[in-house]
Amino acid sequence: MTTKRLRIVLFVCSTRPGALGSAVGAWLADTLAPGAEALGADLVPVALGDLGLPFLDEEAEPSSGVHHHEHTRRWSRIVDGADGFVFVTPEYNYGMPATLKNALDFLGPEWAWKPAGFVSYGHTSAGTRAVQHAKQVVTTLRLVPLGATVAIRIADALRDDRLAPSVRHADAAEGMLAELVRLARALAPMRERGHPGTGAGPLPGSYTRRLHPDDAPEVTVLQRCCWTDEALANDTLAIPALRESPDEVRQWLTSWHTTGLRRDGRLLGMVRTRRVGADLHIGRLAVVPDLRGLGVGRWLLRRAETAAGGGHRRVLLSTGAASHRNLALYRRQGYVPLPGPHDDGVVSLAKDVVPA
Ligand SMILES: Cc1cc2nc3c(=O)[nH]c(=O)nc-3n(C[C@H](O)[C@H](O)[C@H](O)COP(=O)(O)O)c2cc1C
Repeated sequence: MTTKRLRIVLFVCSTRPGALGSAVGAWLADTLAPGAEALGADLVPVALGDLGLPFLDEEAEPSSGVHHHEHTRRWSRIVDGADGFVFVTPEYNYGMPATLKNALDFLGPEWAWKPAGFVSYGHTSAGTRAVQHAKQVVTTLRLVPLGATVAIRIADALRDDRLAPSVRHADAAEGMLAELVRLARALAPMRERGHPGTGAGPLPGSYTRRLHPDDAPEVTVLQRCCWTDEALANDTLAIPALRESPDEVRQWLTSWHTTGLRRDGRLLGMVRTRRVGADLHIGRLAVVPDLRGLGVGRWLLRRAETAAGGGHRRVLLSTGAASHRNLALYRRQGYVPLPGPHDDGVVSLAKDVVPA
């Protein structure tokens, strides 16, 4: 489960001059701002009318991800960088406005596995037919529509010709945002897998990606869980991986290259590397307790050795002097203990790199 802040784009879909959409969008942004902060979400209002999107004019199909025109690339960046959307949409002739359908059609994978909420407005039906129409389309793009919606009957929301939705509408909007944020976090693994920067892992469905400072809370949990065995084996609590705070983990995640192995949103293991002169330092090799004995640690170690890009002459790592399981693994992989003393209870091991 991701703990990073979420980017939620609020799209105002109507584009005609004097449209009510911008007032609905402004009301929504104001209403949701306090709750968004508490939920760890950044709201980004975007008016489709400001994007200058023509009718779909790309030669390649959107699913190809090949975008020839600058307006498509700009649109792609906005959608790709979002974790979820709220579409503020009117109902035009019992359906969604053509501007929204066109904007959806322009892109493909950028939409996938992101929640979509709707704030609709209109006359008798409060725009709900536009939402039903849009839901049918967005699921094809693997957008995931929310159950919670906000439907505004224009006549009920106008006071002295100004838009003033009721408390009931505001409550509905807050409920929709809460559902959207929960779903955006739950879908994060779906978005991550297959994204550029991820690679296949050793277990079915697992994948690797670089861990960032935002991953510090999860890394802290993994460390505390994995280094308990080390503490027991070596009869000491003086193990940095066991004691580091999330802030300390956050700091080293900026200076080490750390690869995380994940599956369905769970962090299964990790390893970190850093070049110091001609040496490649490898550390924090960890695998969750229930997946040990499957070769995952060996796989992560090999990956760390090869992913460093070469150019180093020696690989260095260390472990507790009584961590027999680790020592056996490292020896099998060609590491040789460096001469002592091992007063601090830590053994360093090295492996020379044979030039190709
Ligand atoms: C082309 C068009 C079609 C419309 N069709 C519907 C409709 O099917 N149902 C409805 O309740 N209102 C309909 N309306 C009225 C809109 O709900 C109302 O004009 C609303 O302000 C439109 O949103 P906008 O001002 O953001 O464009 C339609 C308006 C337009 C311009």
